[in-house]
Amino acid sequence: MVTGASSGIGRAAARCLAEQGAGVVAADLHRQPRDGDHEVGGPASTVDLIRAAGGKAVFVEADVTSAPDMRRLVEAAAGELGGLDIMVNNAGIWHGRRTIIEETEAEFDSTIAVNLKGVWLGCKAAIDHMVRAGGGGSIVNIASIAGMVGLVTEPAYSASKGGVIGLTRQLAVDHARHRIRVNAVAPGFVETAMSRPAMGVNPEHDLIPWPRLGAVSDVASAAAFLASDESEWITGAVLTVDGGYTAR
Ligand SMILES: NC(=O)c1ccc[n+]([C@@H]2O[C@H](COP(=O)([O-])OP(=O)(O)OC[C@H]3O[C@@H](n4cnc5c(N)ncnc54)[C@H](O)[C@@H]3O)[C@@H](O)[C@H]2O)c1
Repeated sequence: MVTGASSGIGRAAARCLAEQGAGVVAADLHRQPRDGDHEVGGPASTVDLIRAAGGKAVFVEADVTSAPDMRRLVEAAAGELGGLDIMVNNAGIWHGRRTIIEETEAEFDSTIAVNLKGVWLGCKAAIDHMVRAGGGGSIVNIASIAGMVGLVTEPAYSASKGGVIGLTRQLAVDHARHRIRVNAVAPGFVETAMSRPAMGVNPEHDLIPWPRLGAVSDVASAAAFLASDESEWITGAVLTVDGGYTAR
């Protein structure tokens, strides 16, 4: 299961997992990718791309801030694909550059609702299912380097991503005994519909040691590694995928 699977990083993660043989529930508010004509694979939906490549995928319309929607997603995975082994909590929003003086309470509330409560609800539904199914599973939460270091002008977003990192570590401790691993990927600056308004205008990009911005495939392959059995003894980790930004 991948949330926010219609665009950007979630789309790449869903396709990467499908290429590696997973049946994918692709969950999003909309089936089609976000506007802007910059998605890898063009305007086709993620599930259509996966099926065209011979993979197995179902789209489920869902809002990660809704507990009933998250439970319905897990039921769809169990019903249509036979179970839930991997959950990638990826859906997220960013309202753009704001100081805390400029940021509105409504922007704070919606950022926390999608980026933090959405991950909490996704973990809750997935872990409940995995424990009842006898244990075993891998959860990958897409955080951000904004939850690890101070980035300029993103107060609510940074708070939400710091929360995701704390939640990831806590759940890893509680559910290791169920053989459920919980890890986070913390991407740096990656070219997607979300980050597009900041491209070319964010001086932080010049501080990335590696000489390019991130691509969605960079994050997808890290998520797929943490989802796979190759990372069996890794839990509670935060894997930065940032071209060295936080190594400075
Ligand atoms: N792009 C970056 O530079 C970057 C950096 C660090 C972390 N991230 C994180 O990666 C994740 C994916 O970001 P992206 O850049 O691919 O964004 P994106 O905007 O390109 O894609 C996000 C997808 O999530 C979906 N979504 C939004 N709210 C939702 C909701 N309530 N319920 C279900 N789906 C919802 C959108 O419809 C969209 O398809 C986010 O959590 C983001 O914070 C992105």
